[in-house]
Amino acid sequence: MKECDHLTNSEESKVGYSIHPLAIDTEILGINTAKIQIDLSVVDHTKLANSLIKSLNGSEVEYATVRLPISNDEMVNELKQHGFVEVENYLIKIAKIEDLSGKIPKYINGIVVKTATNGDIDELQKTVAPTFTHSRFFKDSHYFTEGAPVRMYEEWIKNSITSGLADFVFVAKLKNQAVGILTAEMDKEGLGHIPLVGVHDKHRRKGVASGLTRVAAHWFKSQGATRVRIETQADNEAADLAYKKAGFNTVDTMVTLRWAKENRN
Ligand SMILES: CC(C)(COP(=O)(O)OP(=O)(O)OC[C@H]1O[C@@H](n2cnc3c(N)ncnc32)[C@H](O)[C@@H]1OP(=O)(O)O)[C@@H](O)C(=O)NCCC(=O)NCCS
Repeated sequence: MKECDHLTNSEESKVGYSIHPLAIDTEILGINTAKIQIDLSVVDHTKLANSLIKSLNGSEVEYATVRLPISNDEMVNELKQHGFVEVENYLIKIAKIEDLSGKIPKYINGIVVKTATNGDIDELQKTVAPTFTHSRFFKDSHYFTEGAPVRMYEEWIKNSITSGLADFVFVAKLKNQAVGILTAEMDKEGLGHIPLVGVHDKHRRKGVASGLTRVAAHWFKSQGATRVRIETQADNEAADLAYKKAGFNTVDTMVTLRWAKENRN
């Protein structure tokens, strides 16, 4: 979810990190949550990690995550030695817009893709929100209040449709039932981004994600995108294969590390 507040002090910025409390995540997950950003140009990893742990221990934060390129192994290992745990490996995938629209079949039986409206929220929350079981929210759910991972996605779906969290939201319908969602945004000139794709588990392998991606490709093209980015967990085989088939190539791997205050373990 998007961050809401910033907590940085001069000592932190000197050593190359910042800690950003996440108000929405804290409310939904029931634990004081923050996102950490690290300046990758910092050379003294040990000093950075020591200072970061000191700051976290001295703060209200109980659960924090940081995302780093897996190639930054020295920093990743340093943080692991300081108690951070690897909770997710993320593949960053890019497709050229012409590959994306070209590789997907033009007609997919029975699936209609429309602009999502408020009327789709309930159904998408019921059928799609529980399906993101590869995410760290589900894997780390023992830290959170019961039902929090699903609520996280319910909120994400709702905010994408109603509060402008996404630039455009597509819904896939089969016999008028909302069975899939894809959210789209323009990151910067020429680069589109798909933050969220999910399909009702009873309607998988029917071309729902393919249909959503094909229609989204036309929207991205209309926004001037020449490339589109998508991310998925490295162990999410279905998503990895679906995105590969749609024309995406993996360009980088990121690792998400989590720190939790000792007394919550
Ligand atoms: C990943 C996901 C969106 C795919 O949706 P879908 O509607 O089933 O995908 P499609 O039917 O369009 O499949 C397109 C192609 O992807 C590949 N594919 C999709 N799911 C697959 C699976 N479980 N195993 C192997 N290949 C798979 C196939 O090549 C498939 O084409 P085919 O059926 O003609 O062989 C769906 O599995 C899902 O919602 N998962 C849970 C939520 C999630 O993890 N989202 C991604 C988060 S990053």
